[in-house]
Amino acid sequence: MTAAPEQFPAGVDERDLLRALLDNSPDHIYFKDRQSRFIKSSAAQALQFGMATPDGLVGKSDFDVFSDAHARPAFEDEQAIIRTGLPMVGKIERETWMDGRPDTWALTTKMPLRNRDGEIIGTFGITKDISDLKEAERRIGEVHRQLVEASRLAGMAEIATNVLHNVGNVLNSVNISAGLIVDRLRASKLKGLARAVGLMDEHAGDLGDFLMRDTRGKLLPGYLRELAQALEAEQTAIAEELGLLARSVDHIKEVVATQQSYAGASRVVESLKVDELLDDALRMNVSSLTRHKVEVVKQVPDLPALTLDRHRLLQILVNLISNAKHAMRGAPPDHSACITLGAALLEGAGGRVLRITVADNGEGIAPENLVRVFVHGFTTRSNGHGFGLHSCALAAREMGGTLSAHSEGAGQGATFVLDVPIDPQEGDR
Ligand SMILES: Nc1ncnc2c1ncn2[C@@H]1O[C@H](COP(=O)(O)OP(=O)(O)OP(=O)(O)O)[C@@H](O)[C@H]1O
Ligand SMILES: [Mg+2]
Repeated sequence: MTAAPEQFPAGVDERDLLRALLDNSPDHIYFKDRQSRFIKSSAAQALQFGMATPDGLVGKSDFDVFSDAHARPAFEDEQAIIRTGLPMVGKIERETWMDGRPDTWALTTKMPLRNRDGEIIGTFGITKDISDLKEAERRIGEVHRQLVEASRLAGMAEIATNVLHNVGNVLNSVNISAGLIVDRLRASKLKGLARAVGLMDEHAGDLGDFLMRDTRGKLLPGYLRELAQALEAEQTAIAEELGLLARSVDHIKEVVATQQSYAGASRVVESLKVDELLDDALRMNVSSLTRHKVEVVKQVPDLPALTLDRHRLLQILVNLISNAKHAMRGAPPDHSACITLGAALLEGAGGRVLRITVADNGEGIAPENLVRVFVHGFTTRSNGHGFGLHSCALAAREMGGTLSAHSEGAGQGATFVLDVPIDPQEGDR
């Protein structure tokens, strides 16, 4: 290396520059012989090795301070550089210490050291301590893991609230069915049968005579016939209610199962009549609809049975009907609350689409809220949660469909439109 003499101020030469560098650089700078022993080093390098001055380091090697785990590969790197003449640039190394102090991290570049004749007589290198950087990296990793975990938990919480919300919707109708069955059993005509049998037992010895002549006995056959009819009707009604109950429980089971396989992979489709689907959804809201005297109009043409995801549709409809009913609150007493359910099979560009509409003449939606109603947590009801429509929109998307809200504004009622594609191969049958 020859520098133009005018570049150096008077009294300064290359050796002064080298000394300034070695005395002041915070990096570890070193020159080593072919056996990887120190020839010269920076003050910082000497300090790292516990030497007050670089002179103390001369003749020592990495094996004097580092444990084998670091000293050995570092030695081999240097021997490779001496053998091949190729530098080693920007290697990140973990430094392990013989005295047991915590590991440190370093960024190292090493080069062959040549004499004037170009022969390799050793190596020289610069090592920067990047322990702080590594520690920051570790912390970032940690924070990242915590974030991932937090969002996983938040996701699980959202799934849980969805399940609870949709199960809660249906539990109401389970309660009603169970209550009706209990009432019917309590009022059962079965007791009449017991009384009639008791009467016959009392007259076991003269049953023929009792039936022919006694005023009560003569009425008994007619009474038994009527009783049989009443019991049969009772049984049919209870069986029907039990059927409804079973369907609600089945829906609850599906709501839970669907959410468990949340990725949306699970899609249980079955052939179903849209009309019956709407009836089921209404039934799951029936108590509050009758309580609030809401009239329901169904405008559903006779559609063929379609292959659809029954439980996702049911979940959406139950929510939409429940919302429509809530939208009637605050209406004047003379307001006749009405929900209109519609269904149609449309021929779209991408194939057939089932469109179901739930329209109400309730409080309506202000224009600025039309999009927000689908945001998780958005609610204008004092005891609302803002989960319903969000989970409906998700369910619609999982079926490849869409859910949209329409309203002319406050006081103008609202219409929700659900479009679900019908699989061409799996269409009606
Ligand atoms: N039919 C409707 N008419 C007017 N506003 C509606 C209607 N449906 C939904 N909204 C508005 O959208 C909001 C969000 O509805 P969403 O079903 O998501 O939650 P919520 O009904 O408030 O509470 P919950 O989570 O218990 O269902 C409602 O609070 C209401 O402001
Ligand atoms: Mg709701």
